[in-house]
Amino acid sequence: MLRTHTCSGLKKDDIDNEVTLAGWVHARRDHGELIFVDIRDAYGLTQLVFDPEKNREIHRKAHELKSEYVIQVKGVVRERPQGTVNAKLPTGGIEVLVNALNILNAALTPPFEIDDKASVSDETRLKYRYIDLRRPNMQKSLRLRHRINSSIRNFLEKENFVEVETPFLTRSTPEGARDYLVPSRLNAGKFYALPQSPQLFKQILMVAGLDRYFQIARCFRDEDLRKDRQPEFTQLDMEMSFVTEEDIFGISEGIMKTAFKEVLGIDIKVPFPRLKYQEAMDRFGTDKPDTRFGMELIDISDVLKDTKFNVFKKNLEAGGHIRAINADGYAKISRAKLDGFIEKAKEYGAGGLAYFKCEKEKLHSSIDKFFSETELEAIKNKVSAKEGDLVLIVADKKDVTFSVLSNLRLEIASEKGLIDKKKFNLLWIVDFPLFKYNEEEKRWESEHHPFTSCKEEDVKLLDGKELDKIRARSYDLVINGIEIASGSIRIHTEAMQERIFKTIGLSREEAKKRFGFLLEAFKYGAPPHGGIAFGLDRFLTLFTDTNTIRDVIAFPKTQKGVCLMTDAPSDVDDKQLKELHIKRAK
Ligand code: AMO
Repeated sequence: MLRTHTCSGLKKDDIDNEVTLAGWVHARRDHGELIFVDIRDAYGLTQLVFDPEKNREIHRKAHELKSEYVIQVKGVVRERPQGTVNAKLPTGGIEVLVNALNILNAALTPPFEIDDKASVSDETRLKYRYIDLRRPNMQKSLRLRHRINSSIRNFLEKENFVEVETPFLTRSTPEGARDYLVPSRLNAGKFYALPQSPQLFKQILMVAGLDRYFQIARCFRDEDLRKDRQPEFTQLDMEMSFVTEEDIFGISEGIMKTAFKEVLGIDIKVPFPRLKYQEAMDRFGTDKPDTRFGMELIDISDVLKDTKFNVFKKNLEAGGHIRAINADGYAKISRAKLDGFIEKAKEYGAGGLAYFKCEKEKLHSSIDKFFSETELEAIKNKVSAKEGDLVLIVADKKDVTFSVLSNLRLEIASEKGLIDKKKFNLLWIVDFPLFKYNEEEKRWESEHHPFTSCKEEDVKLLDGKELDKIRARSYDLVINGIEIASGSIRIHTEAMQERIFKTIGLSREEAKKRFGFLLEAFKYGAPPHGGIAFGLDRFLTLFTDTNTIRDVIAFPKTQKGVCLMTDAPSDVDDKQLKELHIKRAK
């Protein structure tokens, strides 16, 4: 080793010992004759002292040192003089008086300081990612990621899970995004797809008798990127044979409880509460509710069933709903803010947003003349409005109403500081519908993926028209309003799998072409099986201050899917394209 200790390793016990340290110049301070340098490595900082009285040659060399130079020093550990002790630093009681300095590498002036507080644009951070990753928060984040992975691996090892790697060069897996395609040089005109998840392989591994599989797997999805999405991301992917939902919940809760405790020192309670999909929608307007605060949605359609207010009336006649949230104590917000809420409602697709302020014990609004005293009183009671509250009402199609109010609920809560950032609310969402109707394409599609089985008692509905009433054996794990994991008990017979393909409009030929290998495997003794996949990046994002997925990934992509450090995706030359049998479009 080029060092005897790390830069966080020296203690008072080491005083008078000669030591060698190696690392980066974090800061240099010239104090009259003395030069102080903080040397930094992955573990911490140590103060170095260059004293011309002790060694003039080395002191002169120390003048060359600049930020981020890589150095090796030899010296003697000594106690810091009284009044200069830094209690915040583990090595704050000592310093090293240098008697040999070796500059291992010079460095250009870094584009930003190695300090969490330095304000730097995202572009600069991503372009100089190796500098960004030197910052304490980013180091912390990568190490946390490693410890979470280790904790998961240890836990699953004890539970008899086998880690199996599945291919990247494969066929399309239907997780609802576009595929990344890789042209095949050896098979002209053919393409591999990068896996959107290892879904089909893990099911095949169950047919192969593995019993308990897991993988910390990279997944690739070409979709519009958002704050919590990356084109390549990592799942903790699992599958188990001869199980019911309860077994998957038990293992998943064990993983979470252990990781929270071992890595974060947080006790979480198991089992996690369970909320049915429909109840989640009714109460929170979303299947990923943040349950750290109230402000639930309230259906006020019944108290307004005879309303004369045309907008509400028409909506009810068209089968829509009228729902409200009570923004507790918010009647005094500014007109501008209220207009902002109305704008937001329109962005989410609503025609508008009605509001009432509760003042002098009554609901008031610019539209209150359209409502009878009894109606106003009934709304007030239904939403439990008290003096100073603001009631926001949306009357629209169900999905629009849910989307507007669930988003406003979050926005208001974060603005009012209602969300306890230290709290972790983990909850299962169960009883999802098996299918959803795609209005644009006028066809039914799978809510989760087409390998999900339905509840035994709902199988009979597969022949009817009310496909939206069929409940899936699928489940999501939601933490603080974020979907962290998703899974299901699978279909394991060829007949049922074909039936589901048919329902979602996949012809026998098409199904055979795309998933023939799975249907074939099901003929050879497929055990009942089920599984789940955790979005590891999203999970880790919960523990960052920034709440951005990019801060938990070493080399992430921008919103446009670009890696600013390597400049990928990049142009390729014609020779390469020719080998891949690809012609440029004119
Ligand atoms: P699903 O598609 O729901 O299920 O993905 C599982 C979890 O992966 C995370 N996730 C993402 N994270 C970051 N960026 C993305 N683009 C992204 N997309 C998804 C989410 C999500 O809950 N094969 C099934 C699982 C199964 O049925 O076992 C699947 O992939 O946290």
